[in-house]
Amino acid sequence: MKHDINSSHDIFRLVTEFYLKAKSDAAIGEYFTQDRIDWDVHIPKMCTFWENILFFSGNYSGNPMEQHQLLHQTYPFDPKDFDRWLKIFVETVNQLFQGQNADLIKQRAKGITKIMTAKLFE
Ligand code: HEM
Repeated sequence: MKHDINSSHDIFRLVTEFYLKAKSDAAIGEYFTQDRIDWDVHIPKMCTFWENILFFSGNYSGNPMEQHQLLHQTYPFDPKDFDRWLKIFVETVNQLFQGQNADLIKQRAKGITKIMTAKLFE
């Protein structure tokens, strides 16, 4: 039986499962299979990012918008990549969890993706 996203452990499961799918994806996998990504740093960072959103933990201090603007200069994104990213994220949440926080994280991911694509491409 699926339960809601209730803990840091659940977020860790979501983030690691998401990247397993994203890395092997035909459309966006290549972004995530570059050697320069230090996964020992990136995974905990993504966990604190989502923990902050769901549990207001206050332990994320980064600037994802700026980070993706920089990435866009070196490895240009395509707007379709963000649709794909969101689809994989939503699929991963639905596969593992159900409940209010599961709904909320999908809603937030959708909102952030929309803002990112607007700022990067419009
Ligand atoms: C096609 C879509 C996307 C790609 C290819 C992508 C790729 C990346 C990459 C390569 C990094 C840097 C990793 C590193 O070098 O350590 C990064 C950082 C990050 N991404 Fe994305 N990303 C995408 C969309 C998103 C979306 C939609 C969100 C949020 C909903 C997001 C959240 C973040 C965060 C929080 C960071 C860390 C920023 C920091 O340094 O504090 N990304 N992303």
